[in-house]
Amino acid sequence: MARTVLITGATGFLGRNLLDRLLQVSPDDTYLLLVRSHAAERRIRRRYPLMEDDQLRIVYGDLRDDRLGLSSSDRRRLCRTVDEIWHVAGSTSFHRSDAALLRETNVNGTRYLIDLAQQCRHGPPIYFVSTFYVCGITAGSVEEDGLPPCGRFRNAYERTKWEAEKVLRVWRGPFVVFRPSIVLGHSQTLDPQGERRMMYGYLLGVACGVHKHLKTHGQSLWAHLQRPEASPLRVSLRMIGNNQTRKNFVCVDDVVRILVAVARRAGPAALGRTFHIVNPKTMVGTAIGRALERALNVKGIRYVGDRVERPSELERSVLRWTRPFVPYTIHSDPPASMENAEQLLGRDAQVARMTAERFTRMLRSFVERELIRRDGRVFHA
Ligand SMILES: NC(=O)c1ccc[n+]([C@@H]2O[C@H](COP(=O)([O-])OP(=O)(O)OC[C@H]3O[C@@H](n4cnc5c(N)ncnc54)[C@H](OP(=O)(O)O)[C@@H]3O)[C@@H](O)[C@H]2O)c1
Repeated sequence: MARTVLITGATGFLGRNLLDRLLQVSPDDTYLLLVRSHAAERRIRRRYPLMEDDQLRIVYGDLRDDRLGLSSSDRRRLCRTVDEIWHVAGSTSFHRSDAALLRETNVNGTRYLIDLAQQCRHGPPIYFVSTFYVCGITAGSVEEDGLPPCGRFRNAYERTKWEAEKVLRVWRGPFVVFRPSIVLGHSQTLDPQGERRMMYGYLLGVACGVHKHLKTHGQSLWAHLQRPEASPLRVSLRMIGNNQTRKNFVCVDDVVRILVAVARRAGPAALGRTFHIVNPKTMVGTAIGRALERALNVKGIRYVGDRVERPSELERSVLRWTRPFVPYTIHSDPPASMENAEQLLGRDAQVARMTAERFTRMLRSFVERELIRRDGRVFHA
């Protein structure tokens, strides 16, 4: 029977990919998208120009409002019709100054969504996209089912995602938690799909730091990137980070494929469970440094541990642009497995292995699509 599915965060990186996948797998369902602005609605209409209004409906709302910012009539309609909720929206800022926003969006927003679910006639399950980083900084392996102990977090983002999971678990209603690691673009096309945060944000930070520094000396990374035949630009760039750090990356198409497969195939058997979506093949710090060099066509990037002694102007510039990401370059991600998804989906739980080659090509693809083809707007800003 056709479902009515409420999705939060459908305008975001994961949410738009999830919606594409849901439309592919369950084309007869009706999708209600909670968005917070007309601009967001316009983005959705542009993406799905042929979609009938009654299959893809916009509902205005805001997670930070205790009534989710819904009009009374929208709220009544949702309570009457919704069969399933995908909670993908969240604030993903790593900036300290966004701590209050992170709490309001990630923790309170989840609470308000649960209030709505409790009032829904059909008792919809909430499929919640959490993050593998709710484990915080830890060396031990992380259990899938259950909440890891409240540990040492790198930032308010991790803490508030942990708290949101807790809120969900205290609730006695039906839920499923997904914990992807760091999500990159498409495994085959390598397209970053407009994503500019997480690993791409870090790459962007390195690029901006180098460019701004070169500019003060009458040079330009932007001009250099436009000449792919040029030999690598020599820099002497020590960065905070460990060569042996291990990081976990997955591709967005794998993530949404597994999300939807778990929900559609397991149905009630998935309820109350947690699913890691992680890569069996991690990237080591040295390989990440090499990939940054190749993506930016520079030579001379080195990770030197948890501080850079007497930083040069260039090093200070790069640090300024990459600071929020630094905690991720120091501590390794703990060992991770995705046994729950494997048990349920067998081979369909496999994800594209993040080899150094694939990783480098993905970063390079970001540089080509987001920097070069967009006229280096990010550098001119
Ligand atoms: N990207 C990753 O590497 C990664 C990895 C693991 C887990 N996750 C989790 O996946 C989820 C989605 O991440 P993403 O990378 O897709 O982030 P994103 O691109 O920043 O998208 C965030 C989405 O949340 C919406 N949103 C933010 N605040 C809202 C509010 N107050 N009310 C309603 N909607 C709001 C945004 O709407 P607007 O378009 O209006 O801004 C957007 O649709 C997050 O919860 C994140 O924790 C992401």
